[in-house]
Amino acid sequence: MIIFQEVSKTFEDGLDAVSEVNFRIAKGHLAVLIGPSGSGKTTTMKMINRLIEPTSGFIYIDGKNHTKIPAVELRRNIGYVIQEVGLFPHMTIAENISLVPRLRGENPAYSQRRVDDLLSMVDLEPALYRNRYPNQLSGGQQQRVGVIRALAADPPIILMDEPFSALDPISREQLQDELLLLQAKLRKTVVFVTHDMDEALKLADVVVLMRDGKVEQQASVDDILREPASEFVRDFIGAERPGRPADISLAQITIDNPVVIDPNRGLAEALRVMRRRRVDSLLVTNTKRELLGIVTAKDLHRHMGEKSTIEKIMSKDVIKIETDTPVPEVLRIMTSEQVGYLPVVDQNNRLQGLVTRASLVNVIAEEWGES
Ligand SMILES: Nc1ncnc2c1ncn2[C@@H]1O[C@H](COP(=O)(O)OP(=O)(O)OP(=O)(O)O)[C@@H](O)[C@H]1O
Ligand SMILES: [Mg+2]
Repeated sequence: MIIFQEVSKTFEDGLDAVSEVNFRIAKGHLAVLIGPSGSGKTTTMKMINRLIEPTSGFIYIDGKNHTKIPAVELRRNIGYVIQEVGLFPHMTIAENISLVPRLRGENPAYSQRRVDDLLSMVDLEPALYRNRYPNQLSGGQQQRVGVIRALAADPPIILMDEPFSALDPISREQLQDELLLLQAKLRKTVVFVTHDMDEALKLADVVVLMRDGKVEQQASVDDILREPASEFVRDFIGAERPGRPADISLAQITIDNPVVIDPNRGLAEALRVMRRRRVDSLLVTNTKRELLGIVTAKDLHRHMGEKSTIEKIMSKDVIKIETDTPVPEVLRIMTSEQVGYLPVVDQNNRLQGLVTRASLVNVIAEEWGES
C-alpha cells in the first residue's frame, strides 16, 4: 500500500509542482497517473523512490514513513522504468537485467536462470539476446528489457513513467498486453504514468487524474467515465463519457427486420436463408407475424437430410421480451439467461424486432459519443 498524505513539492525557483496531494494505492493494484504535460506526474512518481524529496507531507509505504527508509534500500525495492529505457550501454542485456539482484548479493547461477525466465516472458529468445548489448536491440526490444529489468529484483512496487510512449501503436498494444499478463501473475503494486487515456483505460485498476499539481479525481476507470468529478475531467476523457442504459429506449436498440421463416418451410430452405442472410438462427413466425419459435443452425445440422419442416424441429420455448421492457432489464436478462439476442414482441405475441448484444453495444457507444 502506498499512501500520499498532503504531499507537496515546491522547487527552488518557487514553483509548486505538486500541492497537497492525497491518494492511496492498494497492494497489488495498478494505478495510472494521468494528466496534461507539467501537471506533476513525474514529480509525484519520483517522490515515491526519493529521487525527489517532498517539501512537506508524508508518504507511507506499507505503513512505514518512507523518509525513514534509506534511499538506497528504498530504490532497490522499487523497480523503476523510464521512457528513455536507461539500459547501461556497456553491459550486456543479461548484466543489465541482473544488476540489482547481483548488487543484493544474490547467487549468480540463480540470477542467470531468472534472466532467461524473464526474457522468455516478454518473447525475447534468451540464447539470442542475453549476450547482446542494448544498441543491438530495437527500441521496442529495449523497452521490453527495461520492463523486465524492473521486475528482476522482484520488487513489490514498480514505477513506470510513460514506459511505452516511444513505441509504434502495435508494439505498444503488445507491451500493454504483456504487462497485463505479467500483472495477473505477479500482482505488483504498479504506478504507471501516461498521457494516453486509452492506455489508462486498458491498464488501470485505479486512475489518479492530475492537473496543475493537484489530484483532480481518483477513481476506478468505470467511475471516472460515468461520473467525472469536474468539467476538466470530462474534457480530458473526451467524448467517451457513457450514457446510462436507463436513458436509452428499447426501440433505439431494436433491429426492425430480423430474419424470419415460416413454420411450413423445409430444412434446406432454412439453411439457404441462413447462408444468404449470414445468420445462424431464424425466428419462426406465421403469416400474422406471431412468434412461434426459433430454429438454429445446430438444429438444422442435427436433422440434416431429413424431409421435414421447420415446425417439427424448431424450439418453442423462446426467451423473449415485450416492447415496454426497460433496457437495464434487457441487459439483465441477456446476462442471466446467457443469450446473445432477444426477440421483441407486442402484447399479442407479434414479432416487433430483435435486440442483439451487438445492437445494444452500438447504441450505447453512439450515446457516449454524442455527450
Ligand atoms: N527539477 C525541477 N526544477 C524545477 N521545476 C521542475 C523540476 N522538475 C519539474 N519541474 C516543474 O514541475 C512541474 C511538474 O513537472 P513534472 O515533470 O512532474 O510534470 P509531468 O506531469 O510529468 O509532465 P510530462 O507529462 O510533460 O512528463 C513542471 O512545471 C516542471 O517544469
Ligand atoms: Mg513526466
